[in-house]
Amino acid sequence: AYYTEPYRPQFHFSPETMWMNDPNGMVYNKGVYHLFYQYHPKSTVWGPMHWGHATSNDLLHWEHKPIALYPDDHGFIFSGSAVLDKQNSSGFGTDGNPPLVAIFTYHNAKKQASDSTGFETQGIAYSLDNGDSWTKYKDNPVIDNENLTDFRDPKVFWYEPDQKWIMSLVAGDHAQFYGSKNLRDWGLLGEFGKDKGAHGGVWECPDLIPFKIGGIEEEKWVLFISINPGAPNGGSGTQYFIGDFDGKTFTTDQTEDRWIDWGTDNYAGVTFSNTPDDETLFLGWMSNWQYANETPTSTWRSAMTLPRKLALERVGEGYALFNYPIEKVDGLISEGSTKDLNIAIGEEQSISVDSLMQSEVRFTTSSRDFQLKFGNGADEELVLTMKADDNEFTLDRSRSGKTDFQEDFGKTIQQMPIPVLPDGQYEVRILVDRSSVEIFLNKGQYVMTAQVFPNEDYNALKIVNTSDAKALEFKKFGIGTVKGV
Ligand code: FRU
Repeated sequence: AYYTEPYRPQFHFSPETMWMNDPNGMVYNKGVYHLFYQYHPKSTVWGPMHWGHATSNDLLHWEHKPIALYPDDHGFIFSGSAVLDKQNSSGFGTDGNPPLVAIFTYHNAKKQASDSTGFETQGIAYSLDNGDSWTKYKDNPVIDNENLTDFRDPKVFWYEPDQKWIMSLVAGDHAQFYGSKNLRDWGLLGEFGKDKGAHGGVWECPDLIPFKIGGIEEEKWVLFISINPGAPNGGSGTQYFIGDFDGKTFTTDQTEDRWIDWGTDNYAGVTFSNTPDDETLFLGWMSNWQYANETPTSTWRSAMTLPRKLALERVGEGYALFNYPIEKVDGLISEGSTKDLNIAIGEEQSISVDSLMQSEVRFTTSSRDFQLKFGNGADEELVLTMKADDNEFTLDRSRSGKTDFQEDFGKTIQQMPIPVLPDGQYEVRILVDRSSVEIFLNKGQYVMTAQVFPNEDYNALKIVNTSDAKALEFKKFGIGTVKGV
């Protein structure tokens, strides 16, 4: 699709019109990546949730599809997942034509108006035509609820050792794990998290993912938990835990809080099911509940992050999660020429281009003292700062453009601690798409994603040497243009 509205992303997924939040039901089948998403077809603000639907062959070019799931008597269709039921364990398909099965939360707003608990239950639906049409299971809900207020966002995977399906679910302040042989009958296996991790808000959108650590055949499990509010830079954000899964529950000895992305605008992200080569592929919702309903876009609201490949790597004594754009993103970028930059102590360099609004800035450096300022003719500026003394990277959007649509949007200087960024050269990669910026340090070891709404195109990049001891050296520095999809 080709869009021309101000702030409309050109190489990120956004809905054709109206409101979108979480990615849902992400599954690969027969050459097609399916993206479903929380969707309100009648408004640009949140409301009765449907599952919107889009498909892609490469995770970059998307085709919009009709709405997949509509609310019914059980409630709105909240977030959840989808799987290919290869062995037709559910019996919804046949051996020759195994079904796609969607597992989602029903949110019963009518019941919520009178009862303080029990209005969120889990339902399922299936498709026999690779996602084009869906039939809800006649005996929904498959997991009922009496006593819980928040009880949602089922994420299901096949657990080979026990030959069964495992569902992660969140129940307010903790995660629960359920097992099933047929996707219809579920039993509680274990619980995690009341005394672990950040608890500044409600737990949402869990995802439990096995990783093979590079080279050594060691397996570790990572549990994603989105939390709203309680993120390090305000509002909603996604934390992760590294640990083990024994078929019943997740355990970890992790004591510190960890975040997959330190920017304000990457929420409710989860991974695709059934991917080719078992790659762990991720999309997040590029917004924040703090202001999602108020961002200054016109016919639609919000976009997804770039598709990212996840890896768990050894870093120092422990592990860290890396998330980095899939390689195919490179195919959208015309890299232009690259050169080495050398900026003396106390100096800065300004580079003017037609527009930075669909661009990639990329270089390697060993410096930890510099600033990058994206500016425009309206005297607006997005400021990124690398600071050695504090082992910190910050993003300041207080003067980046429109900020006053919500009081917190421009206020916080977003901070990201970078304590184990390796010595020596590391890569910095920044992708700007109209109203978003995604920053990847050291190939995704440290990541920040944030929305910005400049009143004019950024068309100048100022690079400032903030060190009082060393010249600033950027190697293979280049500004590329990113093609729209
Ligand atoms: C996360 C979330 C989920 C819920 C959905 C409702 O952003 O709050 O917990 O299922 O959005 O749209």
